[in-house]
Amino acid sequence: MSSFIKAGVIGHPIAHSKSPIIHSHWIEKYGLKGSYEKIDIPPNNFKKDISTLIDQGYVGFNVTVPHKQTIMALCDYIDETATAIGAVNTVKIIDNKLYGYNTDAYGFIQNIKQSVPEFNFTSGAALVLGAGGAARAIVYGLLKQGVPEIIVTNRTIEKSFDIMSLDNKRIRVVEWDLKEANLKNVHLVVNTTSLGMKGQSPLIFNLSDLPKQAIVNDIVYAPLKTNLLTNAELSGNLTLTGIGMLLHQARQAFEKWFGIMPEVDDALIEKVLA
Ligand code: ATR
Repeated sequence: MSSFIKAGVIGHPIAHSKSPIIHSHWIEKYGLKGSYEKIDIPPNNFKKDISTLIDQGYVGFNVTVPHKQTIMALCDYIDETATAIGAVNTVKIIDNKLYGYNTDAYGFIQNIKQSVPEFNFTSGAALVLGAGGAARAIVYGLLKQGVPEIIVTNRTIEKSFDIMSLDNKRIRVVEWDLKEANLKNVHLVVNTTSLGMKGQSPLIFNLSDLPKQAIVNDIVYAPLKTNLLTNAELSGNLTLTGIGMLLHQARQAFEKWFGIMPEVDDALIEKVLA
């Protein structure tokens, strides 16, 4: 067998995925023999299509919409993080067996650690807007970092209560309409909703009660500077764009397949934003 390493991303649709740009950059940067492709897999023949990838010798693949939950049934092993988050976004294939992971929590936390090294996760509360898959991964990551209180708010309150099951002592659910009334002790605000994305309505959020030392992180990256981040800058808060989580979550997947923990460099950021 050759040492050529084949990886990719499965999803449907998949044309929009930025992952090939990211992984191809690292394959080239580290002088590896390998490829990373977009693989369009519709839901109807899912099991058979995954077997084909195994037969074709893939070392693994990323998993995106709509397969992040359905892939779990086909995994022979799922790690603790992916189990808690309830979704697999990275698969490694070893001896025809599928090992499932979720790198979103790592990506979110690593981005903050590298961008704001002085940020102390244990010093105050976090406010998470939204309660979808990304929010669950982020809340899981924040809990692991020892954040003492996480306020979760979502338009559909029932989904916030689902997330609360991760730790019902440290997670507090607040109604969507009351999200601005709970900012006094908040050191980190994270938007995980699709509000602010290109083609969606902006997130209208009054930051006047937010402490000035708080970080505001939008995980939306198209556009890079959302309405929320513009307002946060005007309020004097430090801001983080969504591109960081995207790049850092890819690092952990790359490491699993290629055996090197890659770095996020400026050339990569430029390519992904082009
Ligand atoms: P992801 O996997 O990226 O988290 P998702 O699971 O589709 O995506 O979640 C989208 C999030 O954006 C949800 O929290 C959703 O709120 P609902 O649970 O009420 O649907 C939120 N969202 C989408 N459109 C919204 C809107 N117009 N106002 C408020 N929240 C919105």
